Amino acid sequence: DWTPAAWIDDTVAQIQAQVGDQRVLCALSGGVDSAVAAALVHRAVGRQLTAVFVDHGLLRKGEGDAVMASLGGQLGIDVVRVDAAAEFLGRLAGVTDPERKRKIIGEQFIRTFERESERLGPFRFLVQGTLYTDIIESGTATAATIKSHHNVGGLPEDMQFEVIEPLKELFKDEVRRLGEALGLPASLVWRQPFPGPGLAIRILGEVTPESLHIVREADAILRDEVAKAGLERDVWQYFTVLTGIRSVGVMGDERTYAHTIAIRAVTSQDGMTADWARLPHDLLARVSNRIVNEVPEVNRVVYDITSKPPATIEWE
Ligand code: XMP
Repeated sequence: DWTPAAWIDDTVAQIQAQVGDQRVLCALSGGVDSAVAAALVHRAVGRQLTAVFVDHGLLRKGEGDAVMASLGGQLGIDVVRVDAAAEFLGRLAGVTDPERKRKIIGEQFIRTFERESERLGPFRFLVQGTLYTDIIESGTATAATIKSHHNVGGLPEDMQFEVIEPLKELFKDEVRRLGEALGLPASLVWRQPFPGPGLAIRILGEVTPESLHIVREADAILRDEVAKAGLERDVWQYFTVLTGIRSVGVMGDERTYAHTIAIRAVTSQDGMTADWARLPHDLLARVSNRIVNEVPEVNRVVYDITSKPPATIEWE
């Protein structure tokens, strides 16, 4: 059985041997994986690590501030926050194809890192929180590419960094145990997985300030109600999707023609396969009521009842 303590000792020693007295740049995405990778490398090389947190404007409500508080504040990692929302949105304007969105976001991430690296550097190494499942699903280990995860494979040829991927043989449950062993706060370790491309792949169609606003507000309501029901740890992921569908509704005496939000909630061990979560109907009713009442752009809420496979967890 895999145990964090021995693994941490070995990996810390390996990272120290590899890095020597060079400086290391780390990419923080807001998710568990990059946070654990940063904490691990921080344990190995301390202030030689600089974490760059690219706020691409595609994060969940309140998430950027939470990342700063836990990693910069509590853990004392040197975190530089970059507000790159306008740039990302500019490059995503008019783009609807899921793979193109992922590619653009991945490339823009790297560009932003390179720019920050030049400003803050020089750095020799770049840390990424790639997991085993990311590698498999990006086709590095299998023939078929299901989705191109932004944190694997898409690095430009001329990139100046050597990449350190300390989690690339681990599954999510192992990464969480690792995070606890490294002393990360529970709120961070047990945060549900969140994809690098963020809310952009939870909006079918174009990513605009308006579509982001709708899906972010709906998502915050869902998270709030799941937390109040005490179900945060029982569900692997739970989020909302802006489906790109509009439908007819009625509000008071008025006919409406507004957006459809889908709720996606799944149980899973590692994200490779998943089943739709049997959330209590009362909880779903509260979420639905609150979304249509508090997000005026939405007049219909549906629940995704597909497993993976044949569906994937994310809609894009
Ligand atoms: P799918 O949608 O492929 O997702 O069933 C499996 C798991 O991976 C997450 N995911 C990503 N994580 N970068 C990431 O770091 C990505 O581009 C990405 N795409 C999907 C997804 O949230 C789920 O946990």
